[in-house]
Amino acid sequence: MLNHKVVLARSLAGVPVPEDFRVVDEPLPEPGDGQFLVRHIYLSLDPYQRSAMAGRHMTGRQPLGPGDMPAAETLGQVVRSRHPDYAEGQYVRHFGGWQEYGLSTGERTERVDPALAPLSTWLGVLGMPGLTAWASIIELAGVHADQTVLVSAALGPVGSMVGQLAMLRGAEAVGIAGSDEKCAIVTRELGFRACVNYRQKGFLEALRAALPEGADIYHDNVGGQMLADAFSVLKINGTVILCGLMERYNDPAKSKPLDLALPILKRAVMKGLVVSDFEHRRPAFEAAVAAGIRDGRIRYREDRAEGIGQAGAHFSRLMRGENVGKALVVLGPETTGRA
Ligand SMILES: NC(=O)c1ccc[n+]([C@@H]2O[C@H](COP(=O)([O-])OP(=O)(O)OC[C@H]3O[C@@H](n4cnc5c(N)ncnc54)[C@H](OP(=O)(O)O)[C@@H]3O)[C@@H](O)[C@H]2O)c1
Repeated sequence: MLNHKVVLARSLAGVPVPEDFRVVDEPLPEPGDGQFLVRHIYLSLDPYQRSAMAGRHMTGRQPLGPGDMPAAETLGQVVRSRHPDYAEGQYVRHFGGWQEYGLSTGERTERVDPALAPLSTWLGVLGMPGLTAWASIIELAGVHADQTVLVSAALGPVGSMVGQLAMLRGAEAVGIAGSDEKCAIVTRELGFRACVNYRQKGFLEALRAALPEGADIYHDNVGGQMLADAFSVLKINGTVILCGLMERYNDPAKSKPLDLALPILKRAVMKGLVVSDFEHRRPAFEAAVAAGIRDGRIRYREDRAEGIGQAGAHFSRLMRGENVGKALVVLGPETTGRA
C-alpha cells in the first residue's frame, strides 16, 4: 500500500502556484516501537506555512527546497499502533504534514473526542486559529461589553472567531474582508454588526461610516496598508493586537513599514500575539468553544478541497486570499478505519 505526499517541485518565489508542488508515492511506513500510524482525514492549510516554506517562520529554520514536504497539522485516525497510550481507531491531531499517512511518537499529538465537536473544527475554530482568537480577545485585549472590535480577514478561522468571541462577551464586532460575498457571510451568518469590503472604491469612507464612534480594539491579521488604514478608525487610547502579516507572507520585500506617527497620535497600545504562548489556556478555550459549536452560538465556514493532489492548488488559493473560511484538504472519510 502506498502513501501519497506532496513535496515542493521547486523553491518558492512570490505567491505559490500549483506547479510549485508535486505528489510523490512511497510505501506506507510501519510504526516502530513507541510509534503509531495515523490515517489523515483533514490536512490544515495555514498562512504561516508560506513563511515556514521560506524559512522565515521560526528563527534557525532553513527554507524548504525541491523534494521537501511542508509541515502541517493533520487530523486523523490511528490505524496501527505500537504505542501503549494510543489505540487503533482513536482520533488524533498531530503535525503529520502534507501526506495521507504519518507516524507519531505521541509528541505534539493530542487525542480528539469526536463527540465534542465535528472533527474538522479541531484544525480551525477549535484548533490553533481559534486559540489565537481566544488569546487576542480574552487574554490580551480583555474585551468587555460596550466595546467595539474591528478585525481584518474577518471570515477566516482567526478573524471569524475574534468577532464571535467579542460578541459572546457583549461587544460589537465589525469586520473587514476582501469581497461582498465574504462580507455578506460575516454579517448574515456570523452576526457581525457590519463588514466592509476593502477592495471596493471608497473603502476608507465606508470603514468610517461603519464605525462612527470608532473601534476600541483592532485585531490585525494583515499588516501593511490595512494596519495603517485601521488607525483612521481607532479610538484614542485604543488597542491594536498585532497577529498576522498576510500582506507580506508571499513577498516581504514589497511591504511598507508602519508610520509610527499613527500609534503616537492615537496613544495606542500595541500588543504582539504568538499563539504558542497560550498553550496553557487551551483546556479552557476548548471547553468553551466546543460547547459554543454544539449549541450553535459559534459558527464557522470551511473552504474544502478533496484529495492530496489538490493541496498545492488549494494552498495557492489561500495565499491569494480567495479562501472562503478555514482552508482544509479532505484526505479520506471520517469513519472506516484500517489502512
Ligand atoms: N500570531 C499568531 O500566533 C498567529 C496564529 C495563527 C494565525 N495567525 C495569522 O492570522 C491571520 C489569519 O489567519 P487565518 O488562518 O484565519 O487565515 P484566513 O483568514 O483563512 O486566510 C487569510 C486571509 O487573509 C486575507 N488577506 C488580506 N490581505 C491579503 C493579501 N495581501 N494576500 C492574501 N490574503 C490576504 C484574505 O481574506 P480577505 O479576502 O477577507 O482579505 C485571506 O482569506 C494570518 O495572518 C495568520 O498568519 C497568527
